[in-house]
This record gives sequence, structure tokens and C-alpha cells, in this order.
Amino acid sequence: MLFPSRLMKSLSLASSSPAVTTLQEIASNCPKGVAKVVLKKGKAQLFRDGNPMVYSGAVDRIIGRPPPKTGDMVLVADGTEKPIGWGLYNSVSMFCVRLMQLEEEALRNPICALNMDKLLEVRIHAAVELRRYLGIPSVNTNAYRLINSEGDRLSGLIVDIFDDVAVVASSAAWVEKYKPEIEACIIKISGINHINWRQSIEMLKEEGLDLSSLKEAPPPPPLSRVKVKENGIYYAISLEGQKTGFYADQRENRQFISTISEGQRVLDICCYSGGFALNAAIGGATHVTGIDSSLPALELANENISLNNLNAERILFLRQDATEFMKDAALRNESWDIVVLDPPKLAPRKTVLRNASGMYRNLNALAMRLTIRGGLLMTCSCSGAMTQSGVFMRILQGAASMAGRKVTVVRQSGAACDHPIDPSYPEGAYLSNILLRVL
Ligand SMILES: C[S@@+](CC[C@H](N)C(=O)[O-])C[C@H]1O[C@@H](n2cnc3c(N)ncnc32)[C@H](O)[C@@H]1O
Repeated sequence: MLFPSRLMKSLSLASSSPAVTTLQEIASNCPKGVAKVVLKKGKAQLFRDGNPMVYSGAVDRIIGRPPPKTGDMVLVADGTEKPIGWGLYNSVSMFCVRLMQLEEEALRNPICALNMDKLLEVRIHAAVELRRYLGIPSVNTNAYRLINSEGDRLSGLIVDIFDDVAVVASSAAWVEKYKPEIEACIIKISGINHINWRQSIEMLKEEGLDLSSLKEAPPPPPLSRVKVKENGIYYAISLEGQKTGFYADQRENRQFISTISEGQRVLDICCYSGGFALNAAIGGATHVTGIDSSLPALELANENISLNNLNAERILFLRQDATEFMKDAALRNESWDIVVLDPPKLAPRKTVLRNASGMYRNLNALAMRLTIRGGLLMTCSCSGAMTQSGVFMRILQGAASMAGRKVTVVRQSGAACDHPIDPSYPEGAYLSNILLRVL
């Protein structure tokens, strides 16, 4: 049973609350008072439709003395000062409010209205329940995303679960402010024994946090390594490793690779701890090569060969720069039946999209050259700016022309189903995974 009775008990209180008629009425009962962020006329619809990120340009004025501080709860109101919802304020960020609840929802479930403790309980419970519907965790998979920021209606909060460890990626000022409440909810989840709190330093700086002045220095991770299972394959995860320690988003795409690898030679470029390579080997590939520039990543990848009792003669991990490896391999006239290319985020912002497009094109042209005629290239971009621009496919076409190859698209995918996206916040869709046939 995933849900502890304590969590369930507090949730059942929600339905027994007395009826209230407006969010304004709930706010008037708050002893400390609640400031009101009034939107410019005509700007409310985007947020009524569900986009949680209220940008400063949409705000006309703030009513309330003293003015709200970062992390405070505020009402968000339309141009007539009628509240449309409430959220958490930030005095520095270009997103001055992260909306937490719209009025209609607050009135349906008033126990959560302007109450972060309850809201966190309810939203985290809903996230656990969604994963349970999706069959996660399971006997074969205990590495997954439990909370996916806006997709789980907790903008700025990411939680990945690795066996009994919850890794929290904090990228919003409110997440830091509510750390004790978040941890209290997470530790109640059945099967979770440790929490590793990781701060996304650059994003927290943009949120106005002076990280040196944070009250608590982050405690050392309770463990440095954890062993998990994904699709029945064992992985060693370093809790100090990239991202939250593991790229859980590619789980379904990795499994797909295992289904098409029988009898094939597979190349996994930018392999990290070997996710695609291990799936290919277990799927029956005759030989697999994984390339990454990171030594710690390759140490994990090699550990994963032994964890899965794989024949080390069939799988090889090499430390090299992706471009250099591919150029050298092309000079040696080497080619593979299946190539996977999963580079790091090359376009962290829209402003660098142009430059990044050139890098994606060059990398893909090289990867196509290394794919046998009629073979498959699984190519990825984890840059939100690239995925949302809609130009990735055109870049792949450009790469094909550059490589003198013809490609067809045979599969299109993104992050696994435990990475939900709110359609009113399409910026949450960051991963593109395209399978090409390369002729
Ligand atoms: C998105 S991650 C790959 C995740 C991996 N495919 C998986 O399934 O876990 C990108 C990887 O690219 C590696 N990387 C970054 N720059 C590189 C370079 N110039 N050459 C080779 N690998 C690089 C990083 O170390 C990281 O492991």
C-alpha cells in the first residue's frame, strides 16, 4: 500500500469543511492578511486557463501593507480586483507569482485554500496516486519521477525516487521556504527512508536567493550511492551525479531500444551511466559501444555491466568527446546498425537557440554518417527551448543533407509518463526523442 494512513486521514478532512463563497472571504480570515496582486486588464485569461507562472509584465499593482515578501501567499486578481486564485509571491523573479490554486478549486476544497501545508499534502498525494495508476513503482522499476513541477501543479519542485531515497531538486524560492513541510510530506510516503535535497543554484539565484545566506547548509546526502532497477535492469546511481543522479525521463525510450537490438551492433553516444547501452545489450545486441566525456558517469556505466552480469566482451564504455569519437570513427569507416545520440542540454535558453541549432545539426550529421544505410538513429534533445521551438525536425533534415543521407521519421517520443505536462504550461515539455531510419 503506497499511502500511509496519516496522509489519507488529513485528506479526508477536506470534504468536511464548511462552505465558503469567495477566496476573498477566506483571505479576510487569515490573521496576517494577504496581499493582492492585481493583473492588468485583459491579462487574467492565461492564468484562469491554468498557466501558473504570473510574469511581472502582466501585473498592474500590488495592494497590501506591508508589501508581500518572497515566499508569502498572495491573492491574484483580475483587473477589477476580483481574485482568480492564490499563489506564492517572489519580489525578484521575472515570475512574480507561482499560482497554486484557482478560485473555483479553492472553493471546492477550502481546506487547501491559502494553506500551504494542506496543499502540499494534497498535491503530493495526488502525484503518488497518479504514479500508482501508471504502475510505478513496480517489481521491475523503482527509479522514477514522483513530482514533475508544473505537471504535478507544484511549479519549481521536482522529486525523483530512487529505491528508498527521494531526491528533491529545488529551483524556486518557495520550495526553499517550505522545505520542512515538503520533507514532512515526502518522508510519510511508504517506502521512502531518505531525502536528498539538491538546490538548482542558478535557478535559485534567479529567484533572488542568496544561497550563502540560507539558514541551513545542505546536509551531506544520507548515502552516496543507491542501487535501483529500471525495466528489470540494475543501475548504480550516484546521488552526487548529474541531474538528480539519473535520467529517469528516458525510461520508455530505453526500453524501446531493448526491443529492437537483437543481433544488432549499437552505438550509444553521450551514454551517462549506460542506460541505452545496457538495454541494447540485454535486448540481444551483438556488440555495444557507449561514449561519454564524464569519468564519473563511465565509472557508473562500468559498475552497471557487473551489476547486470553482462559479458564485458559485448559491451564497452569509452571516455571521449562525442564529436571527436564520431569524426575518428567516420575516418575509420566504422558504422553501426543502431546509433543513439543523447547530448546534454545544448540550448539552455531561447537566446542561444541559433548557436545550439548548429551544434545539434553537426552532431546529428556525424551520427547519421555512422549509421549503416537502412539503420536507425535515435536522436534526442533535452533542451526545452529546442523542443518548444518546433525546429528540431528541420535541424535533423539539415543534418541529413549535410551527411548526404535520406531520413524518415519512424517514432516520436518525449519523457516517460511519470513526467506529466500541464497543457497550459507547454514550456514543461523539454525532451524530444526521434527515431530516424537513415538511408
Ligand atoms: C542527457 S545525458 C545522457 C543520458 C543518458 N543517455 C542516459 O540514458 O542516462 C548527456 C550526457 O552527455 C555527456 N556529455 C556532455 N558533453 C559531452 C561531450 N562533449 N562528449 C561526450 N559526452 C558528453 C554528459 O556527461 C552526459 O552523461
